[in-house]
Amino acid sequence: MGAASIVLADPKAETLDIEVLRQRFEAHGQGHVFEFWDQLGPEARDALARQATRLVASLPLLIEQRQAAVEGLGAGSELGPITPGEAIPLPEHGGDLARVDAARRRGLDLLGAGRVGLCVVAGGQGTRLGFDGPKGAFPVGPVSERSLFALQAQKIRGLCRRSGHSIPWYIMTSEATDEATRAIFDAEACFGLAPESVRIFTQGMLPAWDFQGRLILENPHRIAESPDGHGGTLMALDNSGILADMEARGVDRLFYYQVDNPMICLGDPVFLGFHEEAQAEMSCKVIRKIDPDEKVGVLAQVAGSPSVIEYTEFSAELREARDPDGGLVHWAGNIGIHVFNLDFLRRMARESARLLPVHASPKRIQSMNSQSNLRASDGANGYKLERFVFDALPWAKRTCVVEVRATEEFSPIKNATGKDSPESCRTELVGCYRTWLEAAGMAPPPGTNGIEIDHSVIDSAEEAAEKGFANLADAGEAILISTRPTGREI
Ligand code: UTP
Repeated sequence: MGAASIVLADPKAETLDIEVLRQRFEAHGQGHVFEFWDQLGPEARDALARQATRLVASLPLLIEQRQAAVEGLGAGSELGPITPGEAIPLPEHGGDLARVDAARRRGLDLLGAGRVGLCVVAGGQGTRLGFDGPKGAFPVGPVSERSLFALQAQKIRGLCRRSGHSIPWYIMTSEATDEATRAIFDAEACFGLAPESVRIFTQGMLPAWDFQGRLILENPHRIAESPDGHGGTLMALDNSGILADMEARGVDRLFYYQVDNPMICLGDPVFLGFHEEAQAEMSCKVIRKIDPDEKVGVLAQVAGSPSVIEYTEFSAELREARDPDGGLVHWAGNIGIHVFNLDFLRRMARESARLLPVHASPKRIQSMNSQSNLRASDGANGYKLERFVFDALPWAKRTCVVEVRATEEFSPIKNATGKDSPESCRTELVGCYRTWLEAAGMAPPPGTNGIEIDHSVIDSAEEAAEKGFANLADAGEAILISTRPTGREI
């Protein structure tokens, strides 16, 4: 079986002869990708020949995967019997506080032994947000406008201090975000982290297809490709040597999260501890969905295995089903936070091209028509294909699912305005900071609507209290206050 996920181009790689390439693409009904060959200059020809050489061996598999992905659209209800997922509940939903404390101790031991690494996926194109740059560079700080990356680096500095270890931070980029992300980390000197503990690696790409099953030419010398989804992490971690790096450092647990959630509880010891207690290979955090239309995938048992069903693939009937108390039957919303064991990652890296399905989503994709004009089509004109990391869940021998509070841990930046926007996220961040300060007896003055806390100093309500600052002024730069509104134009 050929490589099902396409790695980035190696500029030194040889290209195949154009006639050989043309024939092999024609044999699969894709000869049109050379439609403009005669009009291309030497550089453009070279670029297209390189890309075609990279893709050609995988063409049959790519075609098969596209077909399966398109057939799978809206087929969520055909996956098998779907029953509600099981999760360790929050104390207010019947969870046991003593168990939480025991899990915390276990997780702290794991962190203290230097066995945990962090992996952020930051290769997405952020199309809904429409920000000019990698999402990690988005200025989220309600007062300082510090970026998502800067805020996460603060959290990691705090975590390193508390655990007494330099915790490796693995940052996954894509062709769309790699160069800019590397430039930001260079310019910011890795945000104060030890450079040897920061590793940037790049995910693969998958080609886009029109509705007739033809590859799309985004310009006369380039076949449209997009990042292969957060599921691409499982292959990229291995291809880029990150799994080997983990092993060399004695790290055998990977805490995985998404770049756009500044409320992330990074390296959460309770989550790590529950993962260990369950002897899980992969774990998952969920939040309790109240509104059936919340756009998060749902964790359920599908044909007896824990699985996440993407919200676009979940039938309205199941999405809206209620239990006798009026709560949603399928309440467990997946928020993209996982723990993986190194052994499981190794197994999945070898097998994920086969085990993880490819999903199709109809998108508007820049495309050429046969007269060589860019088509300004205003609706979707093709499919982008992606793999999802949560599709690894059914392949884990044991899993653990833990319920957390959305108000404390989840406020993603997805859209430019409205729900899950920079404005809603900053408001929720400020709300969270306010509760931390109140818990520590340092309530900010009335009228304050901008609060920002340096996460390397304080990263929880408990830590705010432990610091023992007498008042806000005492906290110096660790707590910033302003009276400006927190929602700003982007
Ligand atoms: P989303 O699916 O929300 O995508 O990614 P996005 O790129 O942020 O936004 P849209 O859908 O284009 O508007 C969830 C997380 O997975 C990462 C994103 O960077 C984000 O952290 N991701 C997504 C990748 O790293 N690679 C991908 O191919 C897709």
